[in-house]
Amino acid sequence: MPEILVRQPPSVFPSHPGPGFDADFGRDPIAFLSRLASQHGDMVHFPLRNQPIYLVSRPEWIATVLSEQADRFVRNIGIDPRQRRLFGISVTTGEGDFWKADQAWIRPEFQGPEHLAFYTNSIVEAALSRSQGWADGQEIDVLEEMCEITMRALARCLWGLEGVREIDELSALIQLVLDLFLSGVPKEGDRLFWEYCERLDDFIEGVLKARLADGRDRGDLLSRLVRVTAKDDRKDRFNRLRDHMVSLSTVGFLPFASAMCWAWFLLARHPDSEAALHGEVDEAALARPEAKDFTRFPVARRILAETLRLYPPLFHIVRHVAVDTVVGDYLLPARSAVMVSPSVLHRDARFFDEPDRFRPDRWVGQGIQPRVPFSYLPFGAGPRRCMGESFAWMSGSLLLATVARRWRLRWEGNEPVAVDAFFAVRPVGGLMMRLERRPSVI
Ligand code: HEM
Repeated sequence: MPEILVRQPPSVFPSHPGPGFDADFGRDPIAFLSRLASQHGDMVHFPLRNQPIYLVSRPEWIATVLSEQADRFVRNIGIDPRQRRLFGISVTTGEGDFWKADQAWIRPEFQGPEHLAFYTNSIVEAALSRSQGWADGQEIDVLEEMCEITMRALARCLWGLEGVREIDELSALIQLVLDLFLSGVPKEGDRLFWEYCERLDDFIEGVLKARLADGRDRGDLLSRLVRVTAKDDRKDRFNRLRDHMVSLSTVGFLPFASAMCWAWFLLARHPDSEAALHGEVDEAALARPEAKDFTRFPVARRILAETLRLYPPLFHIVRHVAVDTVVGDYLLPARSAVMVSPSVLHRDARFFDEPDRFRPDRWVGQGIQPRVPFSYLPFGAGPRRCMGESFAWMSGSLLLATVARRWRLRWEGNEPVAVDAFFAVRPVGGLMMRLERRPSVI
């Protein structure tokens, strides 16, 4: 057998006593990981929260971890009680046979042309109805607006809700529990977190009861889940439905809304790209674009691709090493963890020319494929790649096209925007922008 040469990667330890790297990572994780990669190379070992971590930044090694040898790595171990309460055991938090079985039928729900059309048209509908309340010259928090639009669309296309009151209630509850979850405030915040999780459960129970009584297939994800879980006993069925639905709504919601918020911010700062988008939507002249019109908006799609490059909503992807595994020339021992950071990779000049510049045209002729495979990972890779990816491309491009037909969003700030990276890379405290009605034909 040929001998495999395994080397030790550079190890970095904190020079100061105390909480080690935990504080640096907590303060600004993207800057911290970028520094480690630029100073120590494509494989660097460091301690974080008492665990050995390997930060991997070479595309072919990333392919090994996320794709080629994915079965030697595990995504979810030891979720904490709050995570468990919110996400339960679902397609996002599950592992092993449970995850394999349920993802096998949930994944296609996000890929078929009919589903995609329903999802995308729901986003366009939500964008149109929300923006009806906007006024010329008004200042809006774009993150909040994108969250509202996304959540309302998901309430329709995942949950099949039709009544405005129900949609608003679900949207408010999901956003609230997620906020409480992310704020991580102990005591008071925590009490509220548990209380609102209860309220969310009560709401879901009501929706399920009505759905079971009605029995109609509305083409949404919940209808499919109701069918698939028909043989589960009552309690298991409720838990399984609830966990999948809440997980999908939360993982789908904030990354998408954050990406859209950054897109408006980048457009406001790059008038050439904004003008190209206006040209495209004016030429298409569609008041209500539909999924079938997706190919008419290549500029919008490139703007989205470039936004996801500069501000990938998930700044890191983590895997736990289940069994000793050789990656490149290095042995990664079991019980350590691997981190891959799209935020670091996407700004690496080896893979992207002028990596810090917003240049949507770099994607011309490439679709959404990067020059170097596994160097562009806004949606991850391998078996646990994002399920909502097609949804995000289509809905995101059409959301841009729908709003840009009527509105310009101007950013009047001159300070750098502070970024909160946990759960989704987003502007701290939202992002205020001013609306300008376009002198448009509609
Ligand atoms: C711009 C929007 C989005 C981005 C950037 C994004 C990004 C990601 C990434 C990077 C992963 C992989 C995480 C990992 O490997 O550990 C992921 C997983 C996932 N995403 Fe998304 N996502 C987006 C929107 C959505 C939407 C709209 C949905 C569904 C409504 C969704 C559902 C999921 C699910 C279910 C998984 C877990 C897949 C699994 O573990 O098998 N995502 N997403």
